[in-house]
Amino acid sequence: MRVDVLTLFPEMFEGVFGSSIMGKARDKGLVSLNTINFRDYSNNKHNTVDDYPYGGGGGMVLKPEPIFAAVEDLPPSEGKPPRVILLCPQGETFTQGKAEELAQEEHLIFLCGHYEGYDERIREYLVTDELSIGDYVLTGGEMAAMVIVDSVVRLLPGVLGNDQSAVTDSFSTGLLEYPHYTRPAEFRGWSVPEVLLSGHHANVEKWRKEQSLLRTLRRRPDLLDKVELSPKEQIWLKE
Ligand code: ADE
Repeated sequence: MRVDVLTLFPEMFEGVFGSSIMGKARDKGLVSLNTINFRDYSNNKHNTVDDYPYGGGGGMVLKPEPIFAAVEDLPPSEGKPPRVILLCPQGETFTQGKAEELAQEEHLIFLCGHYEGYDERIREYLVTDELSIGDYVLTGGEMAAMVIVDSVVRLLPGVLGNDQSAVTDSFSTGLLEYPHYTRPAEFRGWSVPEVLLSGHHANVEKWRKEQSLLRTLRRRPDLLDKVELSPKEQIWLKE
């Protein structure tokens, strides 16, 4: 997968794209992560990329020319046409389902703004998706882009050491994850649940499923409407 991020602050991405799982995925050649400063594509001698809004009012608006020019200057996509993703609070709320959908793509382009708005022609004629990472307002799209790229890259084949770990994640099953424990079996008088020490695989699986269901019921009951529960699980949850 190729990921290109258009931003006025490429330095913000250095640590995130170069460290931990993303850094390793990049080193292994599983993903190409690039940042492009679209100020380099400004078409005026002052290097500005924003301008006053037509019709008046406060705030500045990102001009279309540098954004279109930067996207058009990217190396051509080899396979499918790229998804061009605009980060903004008005976008569709990003979910694990969307991460899974984007992980199937070959080329993602992210547009990060820092101003009052984007010229509407960017939305209409360049962008394929508008995404928000939640109902709050950030100072810019960069951190939202990092969140989305992280959650997509970790789903790419070969990125996580143990491929299973993406399968049992919270949300990929539609439920929140069950509690995890490691050694010691007793810490400050707090014990690991007996069933996990029993070595009885079927009982462990049953306990984990029940804990997942309980945790989802208590913390995110809205998620239960979207998962298919067996009749047995439905009765168990009602008890
Ligand atoms: N830019 C500003 N706030 C944002 C949000 N919540 N999600 C995505 N991009 C944003």
